[in-house]
Parts: sequence; C-alpha cells; structure tokens
Amino acid sequence: MTSTLKRSHMCGTLTSVNIKDEVILTGWVQKRRDLGGLIFVDLRDRSGLVQIVFDKDISVDAFTKAESLGSEYVISVSGKVYKRHSINPNMPTGEIEIFAEELEILNTAETTPIYIKDDDDVSENLRLKYRYLDLRKPSMQKNLIFRSQVANIIRNFLSEEDFIEVETPMLTKPTPEGARDYLVPSRVNHGKFFALPQSPQLFKQLLMVSGMERYFQIVKCFRDEDLRADRQPEFTQVDCEMSFVDIEDVMKINERLLEKVFKETLNINLQLPIERITYKEAMARYGSDKPDTRFGLELIDMSQVVKESGFKVFSSAVENGGSVQAINVKGHGEKFSRKDITNLEEYVKTYGAKGLAWMKITEEGVTSPIAKFFTEEEVNTIIKLGDATAGDLLLFVADKTNVVHDALGHLRLEIAKRLQLVSNDQYKLLWVTEFPLLEYAEEENRYVAKHHPFTAPMDEDIDLLDTAPEKVRAKAYDIVLNGHEIGGGSMRIYSSDLQQKMFTTLGFSEEEAWEKFGFLLEAFKYGTPPHGGIAYGLDRLVMLLTKEENIRQVIAFPKTQNATCPMTNAPAIADEKQLNELNIQVTEERES
Ligand code: AMO
Ligand code: AMP
Repeated sequence: MTSTLKRSHMCGTLTSVNIKDEVILTGWVQKRRDLGGLIFVDLRDRSGLVQIVFDKDISVDAFTKAESLGSEYVISVSGKVYKRHSINPNMPTGEIEIFAEELEILNTAETTPIYIKDDDDVSENLRLKYRYLDLRKPSMQKNLIFRSQVANIIRNFLSEEDFIEVETPMLTKPTPEGARDYLVPSRVNHGKFFALPQSPQLFKQLLMVSGMERYFQIVKCFRDEDLRADRQPEFTQVDCEMSFVDIEDVMKINERLLEKVFKETLNINLQLPIERITYKEAMARYGSDKPDTRFGLELIDMSQVVKESGFKVFSSAVENGGSVQAINVKGHGEKFSRKDITNLEEYVKTYGAKGLAWMKITEEGVTSPIAKFFTEEEVNTIIKLGDATAGDLLLFVADKTNVVHDALGHLRLEIAKRLQLVSNDQYKLLWVTEFPLLEYAEEENRYVAKHHPFTAPMDEDIDLLDTAPEKVRAKAYDIVLNGHEIGGGSMRIYSSDLQQKMFTTLGFSEEEAWEKFGFLLEAFKYGTPPHGGIAYGLDRLVMLLTKEENIRQVIAFPKTQNATCPMTNAPAIADEKQLNELNIQVTEERES
C-alpha cells in the first residue's frame, strides 16, 4: 500500500513562520501522551522533533487511529501549524504544534531493545548489536551528517585544486604500513592470498608514475592491530599524492584544506601557518611525537644534576645511558595526596616505568621520600631547573630515555585530564617534522622504516645512511590535532638507486626487495616525477571535530574492541563448501 500523504516539510524545520500552514509530515513516533480528549505525539525525522496534537473535535478518525500509536511507529500526518499554548524553550520547534487532520500508520514497531534517546545508559555491545536503532538517536544522526559534510568539504576542496579521485584495488599485495594484514584467500589460485590494503601507498605512487600529477581518494584501509579508542581495523583515509612538489607545497595546500574544514564546520578561523615542531623537540619537551600542546607540564631533563647523587635509582639510570626527567605540576601540588601519587605511580608503571619519585615544594621546604638522598645543593638545583616554587609538585621517572618519554608523556596527559587543564573547545594543530627515517627493531635485529620504506631521507643526511642510519632524518611529517595524529605523509624516494639503498639498509636482499615491491622498482625505471603526499585519518578528524572520545561514535557500523561486529556476528565460521573451494582446512576454532 502506498502512502497517500506525501511529506511537505521536515519536522525539525518548522517554526512560528509556518503558523497557519497546512503541512504533511512523516517520521517515527518518539512519544505518545494521552490527555483524555487530546493525544500528543512527538514526531521525529532526521531533522528533529515536532509536537502533533490529535483532537477529537478536529478528526475523530485521526484521533481513533492515534490511540493505537506506539513508540517507533512510522506515520504520515497532515494538519495545520498553530502557535503552542505552552511554549517549550528546550525544543527548536517548541513554539508551535500541529493539529492533525489525517493520520496514516505506515508501519507498526515492536518495543525496541534500546531506547531512542541520547542519554540512554546502555552497554556499547547492545548499541552495536542494534546499531540501526542506535543510529536513530539524534547525536548519532548528527555525527554521521557532520561526517558527510566534512567529506564533502574535503572532496570539493581537492577537486577545485585539480586533484582527481582515483580508486585503487582492495584485493592486492601486502602494503608496507607496518601492521598485520587482513588476508583474503584466492579460489582460483589455491594457496595464494590477497591482502586488503593497509593504505593505497604503492598505488598512489604508481599513479604519479602514470602522470596523474594530483590524486586523492577517500578510501577504506585495513589494519589488523590492537584496537584503541582512536583505532579501528577498517578505517577511512583521505589519501593524497602530488607530483613536482616539495614539503612546503604539501604543507601549504593541506593547511588551506584544514582552514576550510574548520571554518565551514565549526566556524573556527585557523591561525596559519600551523605551528611546526621537530620530532626531536617534541620528544624532548612532551615525550611524544603527537604532543598535546594545549597545556604545559613539559618534561625537564634532570640527568645532569642527579647523575652523581646518592640516589642509586637516579644515578645508575644516567650511568646506563638513560635519563632522569621530571614534570612540574605547577600550583596544584596540594591537590595530590600520597595516595593520589601512588595511584599515578601505578599509572606510569603501565608504560614501563619502575616507579615515580616525587618532591612537593611547600612554604616550609621540600617534602619528599627521596630528598634525603640528595645534598642541599642538588635539591636546590633540582628546584631551580624545575622552576619550582611553593605549591608545586615535581614528579620524576628514571629509566631508559624511551621509557621515560613514554611514561612522562602519558603522565602529563593524565594529569591534565585530572586537573581539567584543557577545555573541550580548544583546538590545537601542530606539524611534527623531521622524523627519524629508521628505527632499530631489537627483536628483528635490523633497522625498520619508521614511516614506510618509500619515505625520502633529508638531503643533508643521505651520507649518514652508510655510517649512522639511526641519525638519518626523513622528509616526513605528521599533522597532530589535540594530541592525536590525524594525518601523516612524506616526500618519497623517486630514484631506483636510492630506493635500492634504502632496502639494503633495511636488510632486504635485492631478490627480497624485488619479490615484495618489484612492480614499484620496475615502474621507477621509466621516468618517475618527484612526488610526495599525505593521508588523514578521517574517522579521527571527525571524532575530534565532534568532540567525541571514541571513533566508533563517528562510524556507522564499527567493530568492537576485539574486532567483531555484534550485529552481523562477523567474523563467522565459513561453511565447509566454501573452505573446500578455497582448499583451506581449519584445524582449530578459537574464541578470541
Ligand atoms: P599512516 O599510517 O600514518 O600513513 O596513516 C595515516 C593516518 O590514518 C589514520 N590511521 C588510523 N585511523 C583509525 N584506525 C586505524 N587503525 C588507523 N591507522 C592509521 C591516522 C594516520 O595519521 N600511506 C601513509 C600516508 C602517506 O605517507 O601519504 C599512511 O598510511 O590518523
Ligand atoms: P625505592 O628505593 O624503590 O623504595 O624507591 C623510592 C622512591 O623512588 C619511590 O617513590 C619509587 O616510586 C621511586 N622510584 C623507584 N624507581 C624509580 C624510577 N625508575 N624512576 C623514578 N622513581 C622511581
């Protein structure tokens, strides 16, 4: 049966301007209230809610049908817009109501397993199981509409800047982003597997060889890695690549892109150019390559002061090539009891620290379980270096420098959170530049690419590839928003010789390199333009712009923490016939 009442307006758009208009609305029943001779219904569509009144004196037929309405019934209703008797200031349409003349029930609904309201305190698992209902909630609709808007702004901007959108394969070979691959078995080629792309990296570089000059794609990427609040196994990148450019060109165009996104979504005017910090400085000051610089609590290196002190924990850390660093919780020392500090100690231990030493500075002097190990002069120098005065709390970690960075880098975030040092409305963008090209992987006993093996070294560091590979800096940059890496990219190696040298440094033999990436090396022989690019994590960007704390809130159908989908029950056991066709034998089924 087709509906005879065709929608004329969206519910949430009606205002006092529409008073006396005849309207036809469609949507879902949010709520029904019976008040004897009157029935009130809040009707919901994607635009919002509006109040409908069924009055026997206007239509007995509509009133009688309205008596049977339940939550989430789908209806069409025609009627006239009136000024409301009691105005509801909490509702955008609160000044008006519609007196119904005709009602058509398009569908009934069973009682929903979750309420369709934003502040419903229900487990996320249940929300994901009934995601299609969860997505009826205004906040979720708002997020998805916002996400679509962001994608449109980006697509329009890049198209206007002459980027062309090219799709690249989903069934491909492993791509070198460093996570585990999702594999897809090939039926036609028994024993062989496709990998889903971790990114379109190699294809976008090949498109530069093809002379496309400016490419972009809003594209799904797949990485089988441990999930966190800002990580999903499948996520969306805004992926770009450009030919005949240098770092400055890529940064400038991306700054204009971000400027447009912030202006058109949040009406925020970004201060350009976006601030830059080198990787080295970011690590030294914030212990992180994606620092949140909206607040201080910077790391202070105390190694030189304490290296000869009587506190063995500190002196031996420095002696063994590590360091002792501190943060000063300025002016908030009083807020931290011994119990709170023990609690923070447990927190830093999750990042590998062995302890958390502390000094409280008061009007009466220094309170600290470790003060007794230091001379007065050492204590004074610590206080001076730490810029500490009465009311401050110094927190120290001694360890290998990477552990110190990790522990204090996270500790400053945790303390800022506890002390509510940053407001939710503050946005801080930052470029992190000059990343190391390589890092040493102890377990593999070789260097691995910090970014990926196609990232170009800085020209002035190329010679170091032979002598001190760990010192080589890359032409690589990340874009960081409020302490989250929202994008990253680099200039690429475009000469076969340098690429070969890079592979050698990474410990690949020529045969191995050709086996893995031969198609790229081959392509590079035929006239490759200098090129570089970037990829944004669209989910992360949207999460931050919507002030959500989890990317699942901005993805229509996300996976749970252990990479499953409670709605479809994916991943699922494959049936015997499919497995036989693929020549695959499952030896053991395990719950994760
Ligand atoms: P990278 O690996 O840094 O670079 O990825 C780019 C951006 O993608 C986002 N991201 C993720 N978002 C959600 N869940 C995940 N599991 C996830 N993994 C990454 C991050 C990250 O900054 N090919 C290169 C780009 C280039 O060199 O041009 C690449 O993929 O926001
Ligand atoms: P201990 O000598 O083990 O009793 O430790 C004395 C204080 O030093 C305690 O507050 C510990 O938390 C702290 N501590 C121990 N190891 C470290 C470390 N590696 N870095 C910072 N503080 C530490």
